[in-house]
Amino acid sequence: MTENTFVPKNLLAIETSCDETAAAVLRNGRDLMSNVIVSQVPIHRKYGGVVPELASRHQLEAIVEVVEKALIDADTDRSDIDAVAVTQGPGLVGSLIVGFSFAKAMAMAQKVPLTGVNHLHAHLTSIFLQESSPSFPYIGLVVSGGHTSLYIVRDFLSVELLGQTRDDAAGEAFDKVAKILGLGYPGGPIISRLSEGGDPMAFSYPRARLPDTPLDFSFSGLKTSVFTSVKQIQGTLPVRDICASFQEAVVDVLVEKAISAAKRYAIYDIVVSGGVAANSRLRARMTRDAERLGYRTYFPRLEFCTDNAAMVGIVGYHQIRAGMVIKEDADVYSKK
Ligand code: KG4
Ligand code: ZN
Repeated sequence: MTENTFVPKNLLAIETSCDETAAAVLRNGRDLMSNVIVSQVPIHRKYGGVVPELASRHQLEAIVEVVEKALIDADTDRSDIDAVAVTQGPGLVGSLIVGFSFAKAMAMAQKVPLTGVNHLHAHLTSIFLQESSPSFPYIGLVVSGGHTSLYIVRDFLSVELLGQTRDDAAGEAFDKVAKILGLGYPGGPIISRLSEGGDPMAFSYPRARLPDTPLDFSFSGLKTSVFTSVKQIQGTLPVRDICASFQEAVVDVLVEKAISAAKRYAIYDIVVSGGVAANSRLRARMTRDAERLGYRTYFPRLEFCTDNAAMVGIVGYHQIRAGMVIKEDADVYSKK
């Protein structure tokens, strides 16, 4: 890293870490001029989850058009772009490579700086895409299909991992339980909708508290417990009650651990991001329980909860300003 005073005006951001192909133009690090997202959910739905080979192939098919649309929507063209930010990892290697190679080629052709962004850092700072934003440092919880991790976010460039899942991610648990119940993919939104008419106390599913590493998470026992209870039921499944009871178990743990981190580090702002942050029960419970204790809670708007390039632009802008530019031989990484 070198000292650098370059401040990008029109930054192009690209995100292809999983099954969304996304591009955005961020002006002056603040104004979102365009935000294009092409989701592959319809392609992976029939397999009940993301198929990596299909994901990379469709990334390749979509990338050129998605970037072109982001430039057009922003009323810019390639020559106006003075910096490029791209997700470097973690994620599916085949998918990451598509966006990364495209971004590298574009930065080289336009002779502008390129920065590689960590996907989780991007989720953590997606909250700055809206008016009401937290103060540093804040507790950041990323809950998605691939991750469940708790951080202290000290500023745009510095985050500290406090805990993470030992097995399934929270979103993955939603997807797997939906599969057990034959509900379709992705499971989160379906379970969330069905839970509304269900009794969250009908089944007492386990909440993994992990006394040795209390800020870590584990959801595989919960998933197994749902599976066992489903097998034991004869006749019609009380699907809504199962959904509501499962969701409540996930929400209890997420709320408890986020608040416990805030208490432990005496930090008053809590930000929840990632696909599962779209869950209305999680939003309601986190807000109620945290605010009752004097903590403030923040959730990105729904379009910024799931994967998008705008959030990559936020981190990318600050990295470029700090001179965190990557070289031509840099590569993607699948794990943190
Ligand atoms: O952040 P995201 O789009 O992709 C990853 O980086 O994983 O998150 C997708 C995950 C899926 O597991 C999906 O089931 C879950 O977020 N999800 C939800 C809701 N909407 C999406 N989970 C619970 N409730 C929701 N409303
Ligand atoms: Zn994500």
